[in-house]
Amino acid sequence: MLIALIAASILAATPQNDGNAPQLREDNIPEVVAALTPEEKCTLIIGGRAKSFNGIGFTNTGVPGAAGVINGIPRCGIPTIVLADGPAGLRISPTRENDANTYYCTGYPIATMLSSTWNLDLVQEAGKSIGNEVLEYGVDILLAPGANIHRNPLCGRNFEYYSEDPYLTGMMAAAMINGIESNGVGTSLKHFAVNNQELNRLASNSVLSERTLREIYLRNFEIAVKESQPWTIMTSYNFINGEHAAESYRLLTDILRGEWGFEGAVMTDWGGGYDDAAIVRAGNEMIQPGSDERYMKLLNAIKDGSLSMEDLDRAITRILELVVRTPKFKGYVHSNKPDLQAHAKVCKKVADEGVVLLKNNDAALPMSRDQKIALFGTTSYDFIAGGTGSGDVNRPYVVDLMSGLSNLKFNLDPEVCDFYKSYMEDEAYRRKRIDGKNPWNIDRERAIEVIPVDLIEKSAGVSDAAVITIGRVFGEGKDRNLHYSYLLSDREQELIDRISKAFHAKKKKVTVVLNIGGYVEMCSWQDKVDAVLLCWQPGQEGGNTVASVLCGEVNPSGHLPSTMSTKYELEPTANNFPQIYADKPFNYSYYRQIKTKTLPLNTVKDIDYTIYEEGIFMGYRYFNTHAPKAIAYPFGYGLSYTTFAFKGMSAEPVEGGWNVKVTVTNTGKVAGKDVVQVYVKAPKGELEKPERELKAFAKTPELAPGQSCEVIVFVSKESLASFNDNTNAWEIDKGTYTFVAGQDSMDNSQKVKVKVD
Ligand code: BGC
Repeated sequence: MLIALIAASILAATPQNDGNAPQLREDNIPEVVAALTPEEKCTLIIGGRAKSFNGIGFTNTGVPGAAGVINGIPRCGIPTIVLADGPAGLRISPTRENDANTYYCTGYPIATMLSSTWNLDLVQEAGKSIGNEVLEYGVDILLAPGANIHRNPLCGRNFEYYSEDPYLTGMMAAAMINGIESNGVGTSLKHFAVNNQELNRLASNSVLSERTLREIYLRNFEIAVKESQPWTIMTSYNFINGEHAAESYRLLTDILRGEWGFEGAVMTDWGGGYDDAAIVRAGNEMIQPGSDERYMKLLNAIKDGSLSMEDLDRAITRILELVVRTPKFKGYVHSNKPDLQAHAKVCKKVADEGVVLLKNNDAALPMSRDQKIALFGTTSYDFIAGGTGSGDVNRPYVVDLMSGLSNLKFNLDPEVCDFYKSYMEDEAYRRKRIDGKNPWNIDRERAIEVIPVDLIEKSAGVSDAAVITIGRVFGEGKDRNLHYSYLLSDREQELIDRISKAFHAKKKKVTVVLNIGGYVEMCSWQDKVDAVLLCWQPGQEGGNTVASVLCGEVNPSGHLPSTMSTKYELEPTANNFPQIYADKPFNYSYYRQIKTKTLPLNTVKDIDYTIYEEGIFMGYRYFNTHAPKAIAYPFGYGLSYTTFAFKGMSAEPVEGGWNVKVTVTNTGKVAGKDVVQVYVKAPKGELEKPERELKAFAKTPELAPGQSCEVIVFVSKESLASFNDNTNAWEIDKGTYTFVAGQDSMDNSQKVKVKVD
């Protein structure tokens, strides 16, 4: 009844097109703003008002399975603009009513794997091909990339984000945005800001100092905005120091636009924000996907004056400035036929560079394809391409490791493969029954790990080496459980243990492949195996990528984008992060429901509020400074099948900063790429500074054995500044700075001193 009444009132208030209404053009936005009625303006601000959710996207308008729309106003020539999810590829429905075609999208590696490449050109190339699918499937804006910080390894959405470091994050996000937007489609950099846990994400309050906010949790967005000017930004669900991110004038107007010069439009996360007038006043133009109730609230706010015409028209102007940039407005006729085969090649190329070789004792890898390989672990036969939730992709296929190895003509132990194939069929039936009952954004049920005791012994006799894959999948709406996700299960431990004993007794090597979206504990088992390959969730070509690395066709060149600690309890954020012991899958976004803005912000620690007690000392800033012994693998770490040497570092003063030069030589026997990471250690000053901070990086080209190249990166003077809470300003201490170039954040081999007056 209410809905019918609202619809009637909108109709009554919407002037019919009498032929005189101005039609939107790039150069007549003020005229169109003036011609729109308050009802039409609210229609533009409030999104598609989804009433139901089909598990993929909220809307069937335009592109089925897209996340939402900016409503069109045909009377003024304003088309409906389609918004759909990312970031590991475009997320739309593969099927459509009365249409036998399928509309698959390429499943790219997760963002954490993209940043593990440390290769901005490659990430931009991935973005370019993702953006082409956005364009060719009729979508205008991709709701990606995600640029939140890996504050704690248990955050359920870390896989959608790049790193614990704001510089690496910001640069990666900018490369992705520039790649996607080169197609003439838009992006939405998300989730702005300080959104680092999923539990109670719609109501939790992130409590942190101004310095921590500025240096860690805004710096990433600042860099991305300045380097790429995304078309849009999506605000986060959480509160920041008691203020809702979506309603923060300081964040969206003073800082984002005033200080950083952002020129685009802002939207809420889906269902985010409480006070609609405050949202628009703050400089947030779109309430997504909105509802009839929110439409009415906004209209009433205009009528009773709590939202001024000036604020409203500023929002509408920004929305129209966005609309005129879109393919929809420009009349682009999409093909629905992006070149998926070409994009699959890009997917593999990017994944190949993101694999991180963590351990390789006695050159266990690469392996010869003539060796007989015993392939263990259920995940080897059911590879994980990406995470769950809105960051998932409806991809056409996922190459598992058995298929990847077979494609490269590896000699696999047939008995082990046959055992697993039959076991996985049985498990598929059980899993289907459970998954059928689970909500859309919950971890998919995985096959239960199996320990084929006799087969392990037998294959140790007949095979030449063993490969075991350990898998983890998780995603939006839920953080990871320490016991069931971060630590290996008893069965996984036993599997590794038995295989290692059986194969080592016969002097044969064991490799573990980690097919995971975030770290797992390694110290309790890694000494038992010879090699560990971290292949993340590498997208649809995963098995092919890992096979290429295992045989040495691809020399691994990925480096860690976040520190891996020896023990979860030693993480600087472990005491200030929720840990819920769930007995069933559940979406924890609404863990504590709130209906009004007067929520009990200060009641339950880590749920209603989370204190960022560690300040800026998070990730390697903490570990390298205060707890180097707690590092299992440092930030920036990664091995190769060859070795590299750095020499001749210099820092030459240039306009606005320094050109840091270093010569990299391949000192090993095979071709490969390395990463030059430039860190800066500040002199002692008023503020406590970390041991070092990343200020620049570059990936080398492929270097043949004996070949050298000179890498030059720019370190800006501005990047040396720290935020002083006492003066409320960025400050650079005078004194001698140490610039360090290394292969990871613990490498001290190349240093130069730089004086700053
Ligand atoms: C997620 C966003 C996503 C949106 C639309 C929200 O639940 O937090 O990342 O873009 O849904 O699907």
